[in-house]
Amino acid sequence: MAAIGRVLSPNDLEGVRVLVTAGGTREPIDPVRFVGNRSSGKQGHALADEAAARGAQVVLVTTANRPAGPTVEIVRVETAAEMEAAVLARRDADVVVMAAAVADFRPKAPADEKLKKAEGVPELVLEPTADILAALAEHKRPGQVLVGFAAETERVREQARAKLRGKGLDLLVANDVSAPGAGFEHDTNRVVVLDATGNEQDVPLTDKREVARIVFDAVVAHRKGQGHNSP
Ligand code: CTP
Repeated sequence: MAAIGRVLSPNDLEGVRVLVTAGGTREPIDPVRFVGNRSSGKQGHALADEAAARGAQVVLVTTANRPAGPTVEIVRVETAAEMEAAVLARRDADVVVMAAAVADFRPKAPADEKLKKAEGVPELVLEPTADILAALAEHKRPGQVLVGFAAETERVREQARAKLRGKGLDLLVANDVSAPGAGFEHDTNRVVVLDATGNEQDVPLTDKREVARIVFDAVVAHRKGQGHNSP
């Protein structure tokens, strides 16, 4: 399927270095328990496969135990700190798509040994994690394209536009994770793609690979606007 996709693809990301993150991070409470979220990694893996089919050199930093296309280089991570290290080591990518649901908070002092029930209910003290996308945006290379994702449950457009501006991104893909069939764990998604110039594109409920196609169409259009010509 990947080979057929490659033949049929517009090849408009030939040679472009694309870094994609996927899945939800797991922040340890003790050696057996963690604080996590509902992200499955399906959207991020579909994005990596789509970019590879269009000729990109793709690195996928993922927490999800799922397959990816044969040419995609997979880097498996678990925590936000591991994802941060893996992403920042590859920060010279031409396009970075942060589809991962990175924990905003983690237990401050994870226990070295399993917490025992008999010792009573533990009190979890949380601390913030580093914002990976904000760190990338702070040292953005000229011509680099940064794409963020936003999972919202209310006032999706308004919050998404604020996030796009606040984080200094080129594109933001917002999904209403409370809508039926959209967001976490589903095979389908319904999103709005926003860009820094004020354009908004509504994508009705469709499969995650089609969402990936639309996201990379927007990336290619953005790169064209910067003077990059696709083959
Ligand atoms: N993100 C990140 N590092 C974090 C948290 C989030 O790089 N520590 C990235 C996500 O991968 C996503 C984008 O930032 O692309 C938006 O994440 P989100 O958690 O929705 O936004 P926040 O700014 O953390 O706001 P809030 O959780 O309050 O909605």
